[in-house]
Amino acid sequence: MEVKAFDKAHILHPYAPSQPLADMQMVKSASGVYLELESGKRVIDGMSSWWSVIHGYNVPELNAAASEQLSKMSHVMFGGLTHEPAIKLAQTLLKITAENLEHIFFSDSGSVSVEVALKMAFQYHHSQGNREKTKILAFEKGYHGDTFGAMSVCDPVTGMHSAFEGILHKNIFAAAPQPAFDAPWEEHYLDDFKRKLETHYSEIAAVILEPIVQGAGGMRIYSPEFLKGVRRLCDRYDILLILDEIATGFGRTGKLFAYEHAGISPDILCVGKALTGGYMSLAATLTTKKVMQGVEHGGNVLMHGPTFMANPLACAVANASLKLLLESPWQERVMMIEQQLKEELGRCRDLEIVEEVRVIGAIGVVALKKPTDLALLTPMFLSHGVWVRPFLNLIYIMPQYVITAKELSHLTTAIYDVVAAIEFENL
Ligand SMILES: Cc1ncc(COP(=O)(O)O)c(C=O)c1O
Repeated sequence: MEVKAFDKAHILHPYAPSQPLADMQMVKSASGVYLELESGKRVIDGMSSWWSVIHGYNVPELNAAASEQLSKMSHVMFGGLTHEPAIKLAQTLLKITAENLEHIFFSDSGSVSVEVALKMAFQYHHSQGNREKTKILAFEKGYHGDTFGAMSVCDPVTGMHSAFEGILHKNIFAAAPQPAFDAPWEEHYLDDFKRKLETHYSEIAAVILEPIVQGAGGMRIYSPEFLKGVRRLCDRYDILLILDEIATGFGRTGKLFAYEHAGISPDILCVGKALTGGYMSLAATLTTKKVMQGVEHGGNVLMHGPTFMANPLACAVANASLKLLLESPWQERVMMIEQQLKEELGRCRDLEIVEEVRVIGAIGVVALKKPTDLALLTPMFLSHGVWVRPFLNLIYIMPQYVITAKELSHLTTAIYDVVAAIEFENL
């Protein structure tokens, strides 16, 4: 059987039917900001493989780090053993994140790092004898991953609650964060959150939130004042705050971590995606001494331990990726991308079909007034030489920080042209 036919017949892809109508694009190789497709066609990747490939593909420094680590050991169990790549990575992560974070748990994906964060929060209370705290306060339009705990804190409508009705843990949801990033702040934006906290605080173990940008739940960019207010209220009600920086971490919003926009710090922090520069799956959950002391009260320990915990190969690549990032003018680059996205994607506002254009850091979103049609848009984008994968009514890009102004213009022009064609031809 031809390989693509085999893929179509047997291999499941994300959120896709087992018998897909459209063909997958086969990628032969990737380099810089380009994906090389089966046909030999090179397209600019606007997605950075879902936020992760911040330095571009096939990066000499990351390749070298992987080869060097491979020649030593690719993997070793983390129970009773430890290794330098993990220690070095922990040192760097604890140094570049908020000062109060002192402990780190490595896991193999963003969703699992969220599971670990939820376990930390629940065990913190349960170990100290507070068994009423069995719920998480999450936000509408939030997204935190696809495992069961993570799904239970995703948006109850656009998330996967309806597919798992009666199975998912029932949590409490507050209205999505408001207002937009630069909009004037009014205290009433916090009312719904405050009300939920006041009513349910005795059963809430933690609040979970994506700081500043809600990603896969709707690509919403909200005010740092809201985040400040959430921190203040969590402190008032003695509730732990989990910040999910899996998408926003490592410079994506123009700050190394998005919570820096609000000058706050979390009690528990999740990072993943760009941690290895998008080379392989690795994530981490960081927390404070206070949380770990609570978890371990009465002789308990945190109940988690994946087989590939702190995989040395992934840690070595993460170390090289962080070195590359921190020694680069990443902030200048991200701010230049932001400026260019504001100007060039901003042109889309002239189109009738466009509801809103939203930009922060190296994230650009064109929200349409109607849902997008992937089967229609994918070939249109490919014919413009770009890889862009919309969802809901959202056409969005989060380019690699190393993208040139010319390559970025190619992406934004493709988006404008495609949106204009949808409008003009009423597709
Ligand atoms: C904010 C956020 N949290 C969690 C996840 C889940 O991460 P993973 O897909 O690595 O499990 C994602 C992935 O898109 C995410 O954007």
